[in-house]
Amino acid sequence: MAAAVQPGGPKRHFLAGNLPEFRRDRLGFLMECARRHGDFVPLRLGVTRAVFINDPGAIEEVLGSSGTFVKSFAYRMIRPVVANGLLLSEGDFWKRQRRLVQPAFQRARMGEAYTPVIVECTERMLDRWTAGEVRDVHPEMMRLTAQVAGQAFFGADVSERTDEVSDALQAANQLLTARMDSLLAVLPDRLPTPGNRKVRDAVARLDAIIYPIIERRRRSRQNRDDLLSRLLAAQDEDGSQMTDTQLRDEVMTFFLAGHETTSLLLSWTLYLLALHHDIQERLGQDIEAVLRGRPPTLAELGTLPYLDAVLCETLRLYPPVWGMGREPVSDCEVAGHPVSKGTSILFSQWVMHRDARYFDQPDWFFPDRWVDGLQKRLPRYAYFPFGGGQRICIGANFAMMEAGIILSMLLPRFHFEPAPDHQVVVWPGFTLRPRSGVHLGLSLAA
Ligand code: HEM
Repeated sequence: MAAAVQPGGPKRHFLAGNLPEFRRDRLGFLMECARRHGDFVPLRLGVTRAVFINDPGAIEEVLGSSGTFVKSFAYRMIRPVVANGLLLSEGDFWKRQRRLVQPAFQRARMGEAYTPVIVECTERMLDRWTAGEVRDVHPEMMRLTAQVAGQAFFGADVSERTDEVSDALQAANQLLTARMDSLLAVLPDRLPTPGNRKVRDAVARLDAIIYPIIERRRRSRQNRDDLLSRLLAAQDEDGSQMTDTQLRDEVMTFFLAGHETTSLLLSWTLYLLALHHDIQERLGQDIEAVLRGRPPTLAELGTLPYLDAVLCETLRLYPPVWGMGREPVSDCEVAGHPVSKGTSILFSQWVMHRDARYFDQPDWFFPDRWVDGLQKRLPRYAYFPFGGGQRICIGANFAMMEAGIILSMLLPRFHFEPAPDHQVVVWPGFTLRPRSGVHLGLSLAA
């Protein structure tokens, strides 16, 4: 892979710029940009000026700075769903909200409050699974992580309607992803196009579930010590509390961000384990030796380094968030290049994590690469599945704990192998999804 920076970038169409190639094959296009044009690649996506950076130091300049950059154009497409929740808010409002929710993700709290929820939801799922069948594990993982998010963050009120929330979110998500490729994506959401109308319907369905839950919890004055109660009780210095709209935005954000990505980590891990029997067997034996058929505690998860290595390696090869973007609020420089206000600065976990300058045999699934402290030796942003800087994923520890617990309950029970006649296809929407699922054959673990 080329290390040198070469100005110019790939050829552009007069009106659409580089959008047609990007639409045709997003991952392939970005890989090719890095290979042919180096670490700083000017692009134009429709009317949007962009630059694709592919160097850990340059990514650090962007993610590590505070106040110079805001989230880029592409994120606005999910605004109809998550609105001004933590994922998209900026400035002082974002700072305040982040401070408020951070305590819900402290390690001590996660162990005692969330582990039983994850164990219980996984056991319910496993009761439905039998050896000898073929299952599409992707929707299974989606449902499981949605149930965990609903119950762990918002209590019984939401968990009773998890499937409905999850379905409506998926519908909205799919419609928004379809728009991502479109030149028309620059048009305002308010225009009455059929696509916009469908998104609005899905969002209205979500609102019809979420607002009554907020209203009920407000009226009951119960403090359940979950994320929803914490958000309801939060007060500004002037004593004012969050409005229902602000609460709705945070609930939606945590529901979406808190389950979709983790379900993908689990689906891709099961897929890779099914393709690599030796690794699956070794991991199963490690887990069995420590847990002997019991679900793990948080402390026990810490004694399973190979499990952690398998998850890190999956996040390297199949990062659920495969690309990110920022825009400078005023003209600035990145890696010594001038970047004008409003330019989308793009960087991609998919591309960076497969860079042979940082990873030997980058296309191999080789968890052992992580066991002797590779992460500490790498430049900070050669591997960044959870982003970084101030806006680093707030749920990273929760996701690793949840995925660890679930896998350590699945592997002692079942052996997974690829289903014949089913091809798993990577589909990079907002997240890196399997286009038509991950169908795996289940047999009893040895
Ligand atoms: C494997 C699972 C996950 C992955 C790969 C992942 C990845 C990411 C990434 C890359 C970002 C940064 C986006 C950016 O800066 O543009 C992010 C932000 C965020 N994530 Fe996650 N995430 C995961 C799980 C979770 C979970 C479980 C939760 C909630 C419980 C969560 C909630 C959030 C929120 C609220 C933000 C925005 C934080 C802020 O801007 O202050 N994520 N995530």
